[in-house]
Amino acid sequence: MAAPPPLLPCSGERCRVWRLVVVAFVVFVAAAMDTAAASMYDDVEVVWGSDHSFFYMDGEADTLALCLDETHGSGFRSKDAYLYARFDIDMMLVANNSAGTVTTLYLMPEDVPWEYHDEVDLEFLGNVTGEPYTLHTNIFANGVGGREQQFRLWFDPTCDFHTYSIVWNPKHIIILVDGVPIRDYRNEAARGAAFPTWQKMRVHGSLWNADDWATQGGSVKTDWSAAPFYAYYRRLRVTPCAPSPGVAWCGDEPPESPRFKQEMDAAALRKAREEHLLYDYCADTKRFKDTGLPIECTPPIS
Ligand SMILES: *[C@@H]1O[C@H](CO)[C@@H](O)[C@H](O)[C@H]1NC(C)=O
Repeated sequence: MAAPPPLLPCSGERCRVWRLVVVAFVVFVAAAMDTAAASMYDDVEVVWGSDHSFFYMDGEADTLALCLDETHGSGFRSKDAYLYARFDIDMMLVANNSAGTVTTLYLMPEDVPWEYHDEVDLEFLGNVTGEPYTLHTNIFANGVGGREQQFRLWFDPTCDFHTYSIVWNPKHIIILVDGVPIRDYRNEAARGAAFPTWQKMRVHGSLWNADDWATQGGSVKTDWSAAPFYAYYRRLRVTPCAPSPGVAWCGDEPPESPRFKQEMDAAALRKAREEHLLYDYCADTKRFKDTGLPIECTPPIS
């Protein structure tokens, strides 16, 4: 079990003082330890709501806590950007009545015009106490999203840390939960479906209020009497895509390279989707009745 998270107010004097102490301690421990290990403190930066987030040590794991109250939430991003990599991070989500809150993990490029916007999105939609979270995923390429798939997690994501992963290589974007693949977005650019292939992205995380839509379609509002809410992130591991010997980078890998199937256990994917898929845009024939299903939803003609 994870150590109990610190119970702190989101902001205010007590929080500020505590944060200074924690940061000083993290710096000290990081200096004392071999810093080769992935470190949230070293590898990410808080980009909004810096007074609603703090780093702390939990055993050996330096952890970033994001906080949300009625004023605002907070968010971070990796200091580095990557073109093709595997991203793994451990997260523990807002406990108890998390209705209206959304905790996110996503890949996104720097500011680019919307027509070039790429994004790989995991959004954990909170719920009232005792009811399950929904994991909402989406993929944007060249400014077009609308590729929603939703899942029910097979564990309580608020009791302990679980590993959420995004594998991004030239042929696939794969989303995994505790090592189990739940989604595979294939590069179908040859058939006309957009796929992120050319710009670096950073990994981001955030905690915010979305009670206009998140929980049971927006009908359940955030209960601010239960605030502040906390979500925790630790052990970010980024593994850049490694090309085969003699190949300069993954973008030059021959299309049929086995390199890009390594993380893809098709049987595990099928089973996870049979058991945990709630919604798939590719199965939503009603939604696409006028236009036909998006090209990537139809099987390739062989
Ligand atoms: C919340 O719980 C209800 C009832 O179990 C469920 O229908 C819903 O999908 C859950 N998740 C969200 C985000 O509303």
